[in-house]
Amino acid sequence: MGAMRRLLVFVAVCLAVSDAHNITDILDGFPEYSLFNSYLSQTRLADEINTRETITILALNNGEMSALAAKHPLPVIKKALSLHILLDYFDAGKLHQISDGSTTSTTLFQTTGNAPGNIGSVNITDLKGGKVGFGSAIPGSPLDSTYTKEVKKIPYNISVIEISQPIIAPGVLTAPAPSASDVNITGALEKAGCKTFVSLIVKTGVLKVYQTAAEKGLTLFAPSDEAFKAADVPDLSKLTNAELVSLLQYHAVASYSPKGTLKTTTDPISTLATNGAGKFDLKVSTAGDDVTLKTGVDSSRVASTVVDSTPLCIFTVDNVLLPAELFGKSPSPAPAPEPVTSPAPAPEASAPSPADAPASIDSPPAPPTESPEKSPAGAPTSHSENTTSESEKSPASPAALLNAILTVSGSVIISIFLS
Ligand SMILES: *[C@@H]1O[C@H](CO)[C@@H](O)[C@H](O)[C@H]1NC(C)=O
Ligand SMILES: *[C@@H]1O[C@H](CO)[C@@H](O)[C@H](O)[C@H]1NC(C)=O
Ligand SMILES: *[C@@H]1O[C@H](CO)[C@@H](O)[C@H](O)[C@H]1NC(C)=O
Ligand SMILES: *[C@@H]1O[C@H](CO)[C@@H](O)[C@H](O)[C@H]1NC(C)=O
Ligand SMILES: *[C@@H]1O[C@H](CO)[C@@H](O)[C@H](O)[C@H]1NC(C)=O
Repeated sequence: MGAMRRLLVFVAVCLAVSDAHNITDILDGFPEYSLFNSYLSQTRLADEINTRETITILALNNGEMSALAAKHPLPVIKKALSLHILLDYFDAGKLHQISDGSTTSTTLFQTTGNAPGNIGSVNITDLKGGKVGFGSAIPGSPLDSTYTKEVKKIPYNISVIEISQPIIAPGVLTAPAPSASDVNITGALEKAGCKTFVSLIVKTGVLKVYQTAAEKGLTLFAPSDEAFKAADVPDLSKLTNAELVSLLQYHAVASYSPKGTLKTTTDPISTLATNGAGKFDLKVSTAGDDVTLKTGVDSSRVASTVVDSTPLCIFTVDNVLLPAELFGKSPSPAPAPEPVTSPAPAPEASAPSPADAPASIDSPPAPPTESPEKSPAGAPTSHSENTTSESEKSPASPAALLNAILTVSGSVIISIFLS
């Protein structure tokens, strides 16, 4: 046992093996849609698709997709493609059973906030001869895109069907699409109620940093004027100029990360202030449609989208994001890895779970539980702080190795014991 006790490294990797679909993966199996697939990734629409249930993708083959892509910049392609993502489930069977032969479906375009009337909806109509036509739901629009075939379905989560040509809503392809360098960042921010933030980024010159970064991909989290007035905001005039620059750079990420992408983010994200591993980063948490950024000192809801034009995204946030590197009082030296979900050691047929192990054999350390009430049903009731801290001192045992891999209701716990 002495050898066993010598060194114990316990790594609990809790991979949330979610049952959610992965559109990139699905389309990877169909080379005829590789261009469509690539554009779903480039525009981050893939992330948006993956965070939704009950969705239908109207896929375009490589010929149709390249014709659409050839003439338009990425932000326009994104708009056009978001009209091909229906927020409802349609497979071949359902298409041919549309009551009264005609219906409309809302699309992802509708959720962008700049979709007046029913420009974000699609008209699906049973045509003569068993054909199903698709077109913009704006009255009078042609239904000249037709259903071709089923590509893949996972009822009733996601259906991918091929249509003959792009669905074009009036004005979508002709609307001016400002390139990132054309976007007046300060103008957009002032209009969105972030005047204090604007004055700070202008004063410090951080605006130039943003503008340069925006060429390649930039996401800004701009605190509202209200946020700067909050009682718990530290006195920023006490910061040195370098610290103020870091604080402002902390509110930006060097990638295009629209909301759907933030929602799929599980690892901490680096900011423009990041100057070393784990320094000045942000954690993202999602609940339903809400995205919250956590600094380790405070947190803030991502409030509204000001600009979403590939590769630039600007959001407002309710609170000034306070990095621990500047405002942390007593930064905890080594934060325990945060499990995505609290894994419950549900017994598997073959492997004995820690709870089942005889008392004489030391059970492996219980993975840190973020909050006990989050433990799924079936978690042992002894899963309290006391037993956790006790078992953390426990050495590894052969029995523990048996438990190296527990596959538990959607979570995989991989325990690595070095002894
Ligand atoms: C459909 O999605 C739900 C929620 O993500 C998931 O629990 C379920 O397993 C999925 N169904 C299929 C057949 O993948
Ligand atoms: C989806 O699948 C692609 C290709 O297999 C992979 O690169 C990507 O990481 C997956 N995304 C998620 C969120 O699992
Ligand atoms: C769909 O378009 C057709 C042709 O323009 C129209 O007759 C029909 O009423 C539309 N359906 C719906 C549900 O709006
Ligand atoms: C950007 O907008 C601000 C405020 O509306 C304005 O003062 C400034 O002149 C604009 N800059 C450019 C380059 O258009
Ligand atoms: C945890 O341990 C403390 C002291 O060791 C004891 O007072 C407390 O009752 C224990 N709590 C539980 C839930 O066992």
